[in-house]
Amino acid sequence: MSNYAVEMKQTAQAMVASGKGILAMDESNGTCNKRFEKLGIPATEERRRAYRELILTTPGLSEFISGAILYDETIRQSTQAGVSFIKVMQDAGMIPGIKVDTGAKDLAGHPHEKVTEGLDGLRDRIAEYYKMGARFAKWRAVITIGEDIPSRACIEANAHALARYAALCQEGGLVPIVEPEVLIDGNHTIERCYEVTDETLHAVFAQLYRQGVAYNQMILKPSMVISGLACPIQAPAEQVAEMTIQCLLKNVRVNVPGVAFLSGGQSHQQASEHLNIMNAKYRSHCPWQITFSYARAIQQPALETWRGNDANVAQAQQQLLHRAKCNSAASLGQYRAQMEQQLAPV
Ligand code: G3H
Repeated sequence: MSNYAVEMKQTAQAMVASGKGILAMDESNGTCNKRFEKLGIPATEERRRAYRELILTTPGLSEFISGAILYDETIRQSTQAGVSFIKVMQDAGMIPGIKVDTGAKDLAGHPHEKVTEGLDGLRDRIAEYYKMGARFAKWRAVITIGEDIPSRACIEANAHALARYAALCQEGGLVPIVEPEVLIDGNHTIERCYEVTDETLHAVFAQLYRQGVAYNQMILKPSMVISGLACPIQAPAEQVAEMTIQCLLKNVRVNVPGVAFLSGGQSHQQASEHLNIMNAKYRSHCPWQITFSYARAIQQPALETWRGNDANVAQAQQQLLHRAKCNSAASLGQYRAQMEQQLAPV
């Protein structure tokens, strides 16, 4: 058993405490810059810092957000007034987390498929992040659905890497967020998404078992079972919720404290609606908390309002808080579409 077992168990429970979810703000510089460029925001370190300051200093955010996932650049940054982001989070009662993978790279011999890298030197990086104050980590694996893919090779390579990452995190005191994302891109049906998600989660839990990962000291961050974005038949929200829960119940160990979904390219309202149905209809059938760990579905409206202009900070923070509040309500099964109007900031 890890020396940190008691602390990690408490941290994992706090990450998915009732009515709270995790904010993903761990975009790599490349991804963050692409999102900035689309809105005409200068892709500079200073603008990335300013944007992350806007997010982390949003008044009242910790009522709905238990912790935030940072990127390596961000965890080392401070507010304009010189307070480190880690301290800002700790003072607000939010747990600092860190993305530790180094990205999804082409899987050799398997065109159109990726494997996530970042295991080399990971033990030392975990020790450094723990010292800085991080208490959880994230690693994202990417599974693509297409003609004749995913291959078994891709699923197994990613599941193995996720499990080795999770074991290293637990050895070093960080709660691992295990994120196997089945991409929404493509014209596949929801049934095909179910098959692939089922196979992926099965492989991930087999590898977690093999590497001795403690299920009660980790969080699962899956994608929802959903129709491909280009599929002509889009499954209704009720079906997304039902098939997602069915797939999770089949594969996720009962003592995992929480399942915190990624949004994966769903609209922000859809992401709230799907999460809400899962909690309203199925929460009592599930042994784990069901919540969110969204990036785009929380941040996008705020980013579009901010547009790199400091004069828009307060309004962008209202937008961010609004999405956090809607998703918090969804994690309790209490989200209603009308909330979008009632809470819309002026
Ligand atoms: O790894 C992906 C992020 O943590 C979640 O991002 O909600 O925009 O899919 P997303």
